Amino acid sequence: MGYFRENIEKAKGYEPGFQPKQTDVIKLNTNENPYPPSPAVMKVLAEIKPVQLRRYPDPTGEQFLQAAAQVHGISADHILCCNGGDELLTIAFRAFCDENRPVAYPVPTYSLYPVLANLQNCKAMEIPFDSEFNLPAKLAGDGAALTIVCNPNAPSGTFIAVGELASLADELDGILLIDEAYVDFARDNCVSLVKDFDNVIILRSMSKGYSLAGLRFGYAIAQPDLIAGLMKLKDSYNVNALSIAVAAAAIKDQKYFKENVEKVKRDRDILTEQLRALKFKVAKSSANFVLAESKNCKAGEIYDKLVQRNIYVRFFDLPGLTNKLRITVGTSEQNDKLVLTLKEILSSKGTSHGKENG
Ligand SMILES: Cc1ncc(COP(=O)(O)O)c(C=O)c1O
Repeated sequence: MGYFRENIEKAKGYEPGFQPKQTDVIKLNTNENPYPPSPAVMKVLAEIKPVQLRRYPDPTGEQFLQAAAQVHGISADHILCCNGGDELLTIAFRAFCDENRPVAYPVPTYSLYPVLANLQNCKAMEIPFDSEFNLPAKLAGDGAALTIVCNPNAPSGTFIAVGELASLADELDGILLIDEAYVDFARDNCVSLVKDFDNVIILRSMSKGYSLAGLRFGYAIAQPDLIAGLMKLKDSYNVNALSIAVAAAAIKDQKYFKENVEKVKRDRDILTEQLRALKFKVAKSSANFVLAESKNCKAGEIYDKLVQRNIYVRFFDLPGLTNKLRITVGTSEQNDKLVLTLKEILSSKGTSHGKENG
């Protein structure tokens, strides 16, 4: 017998996107924001006091709770601070799932869900999206203790209307966790559902819209009873003193946040059109990335050629995604370089084909 529980022994673990060591690369593979965080964030960091490090942090991150409550128009007891949205997912699996309490989610989606299901030893009911990434009807009657819908979905970038998720919340007996890690780039969000449904948890991340992936800060929004329940599962000091202060400064600076997000959305739509002009099939994205499928060249081949040119995108090679690349929206310059490089790759392929045929 090994030291680990049997399911841990067998588990592969989550494989994070590649983080290249060099800095002179175009990194469009892990959906980071290409712009720096708010200047208010840098000011907080510059003014950090020794006492903030010497003492334990506020266990609930009140400073952030108050700032986020104001932004969302809810009271602070509807919010739980987490060490990244990923910590909320871990907490939710531990809170609601076990051998007899399955999780359900549509696929393809965020590849962390099956990893956490495996660690928790719970059955994962993976219900395929159709080719348009519509919400599968089967989710409603699944009997799962926890149903997760990623909206906008990763890696498709597609968005499910709030009304459809309200109907799902109404039909489910268990919890509906709506993973809104990318919602800052979408036209709508599900926070309003929390008022009407005691089984809805919204996941938010500061990694994408607020340019704070390195900080590790996310939060849950739900009715106070659910928040109080989730609180029992978190580490006593799950968010540190620096990240509470920084995340609070970032969320307070809504002007900077909105300007930044608008730039990314504008460039996403331009990139989508440019990729379509290169004969890629690209679903309309509501996130800060696009999912692109070349009609003329294998995704794996394009991926390798981009890496050779120091451009990193994400290639999953998983069912439903075999010939697709997920590309994070970068700065306008990075996107232009990517499009130019793709043009070169595809045209050299066209030439070599011509030679083979001739
Ligand atoms: C769909 C989805 N949910 C949640 C997260 C977690 O984000 P973080 O832990 O950085 O807040 C990510 C991160 O990439 C994600 O892609």
